[in-house]
Amino acid sequence: MELVTADPRLRLRTLDMADVEDYWRLVEHNRDHLGRHGDYAELRAADREMIRAGFAHPLDGEFALGIRVDGDLVGEMVLTPVDPPRYSLGYWLDEKAVGNGYATNAGRALLMWARENTGITDVYAGVTFGNRPSIAVLDRLGFTEVSDQDTYTRYRLSLREPS
Ligand SMILES: CC(C)(COP(=O)(O)OP(=O)(O)OC[C@H]1O[C@@H](n2cnc3c(N)ncnc32)[C@H](O)[C@@H]1OP(=O)(O)O)[C@@H](O)C(=O)NCCC(=O)NCCS
Repeated sequence: MELVTADPRLRLRTLDMADVEDYWRLVEHNRDHLGRHGDYAELRAADREMIRAGFAHPLDGEFALGIRVDGDLVGEMVLTPVDPPRYSLGYWLDEKAVGNGYATNAGRALLMWARENTGITDVYAGVTFGNRPSIAVLDRLGFTEVSDQDTYTRYRLSLREPS
C-alpha cells in the first residue's frame, strides 16, 4: 500500500522485508530521540535480528507504514489493532526530519485512508506526559483527550463521527 499526502514529497508505504536495513539504521540513529520521553523501550532495545523477525511476522491486522520523503525512509506510522475495531496510532520521525509537518501530513493521509477503506471505528493514542510535539500532532489531527493514566494521557479520534 502506498499513500500520497498533502505534501508532494511525502508518502507512506507499507514496510516490508526490503526495508529492514534502512529501518534498522534509522532506529540506530534515533535511540536517544525515541527515548527522550521514556517511550519506545522495546524498539530501542531491539537488535537487528529482532527487527528482522518483527518484519517477517507482522501482527495480524496491523498497518505499519514507512514515512518517506523523496523516497527516503524518515519515520514510521502504525495503526495497531488493540481491541478491533478500535486501533491505536503510533508514530516517530528521524530527529533530523522533525519540524516539517511530516507526522501531521502522514497522519491525515493514513486516517483518511482508514476512514474510507477499513472498519476501524476509533483510533487511540497514548502520549507520555510532557511529550509536547506529539500532543501537538494529535491536536492537529483532531484527537481529543479522554483520560490520564499513570504516566501518559490517552487521546481518541472517532472515524465514524463527522469530523
Ligand atoms: C512526535 C513527533 C513525530 C512530532 O514530530 P514533529 O515534526 O514535531 O511533528 P510534525 O511532523 O507534524 O511537524 C510539526 C512541526 O512542523 C511545522 N510545520 C512545517 N510545515 C508544516 C506543515 N505543512 N504542516 C504542519 N506543520 C508544519 C509545525 O509548525 C511544527 O513545528 P513546531 O514544532 O516548531 O511547532 C517527533 O517529535 C518524534 O518523532 N518524537 C519521538 C517519538 C515520539 O515521541 N512519538 C510519539 C509517541 S506518542
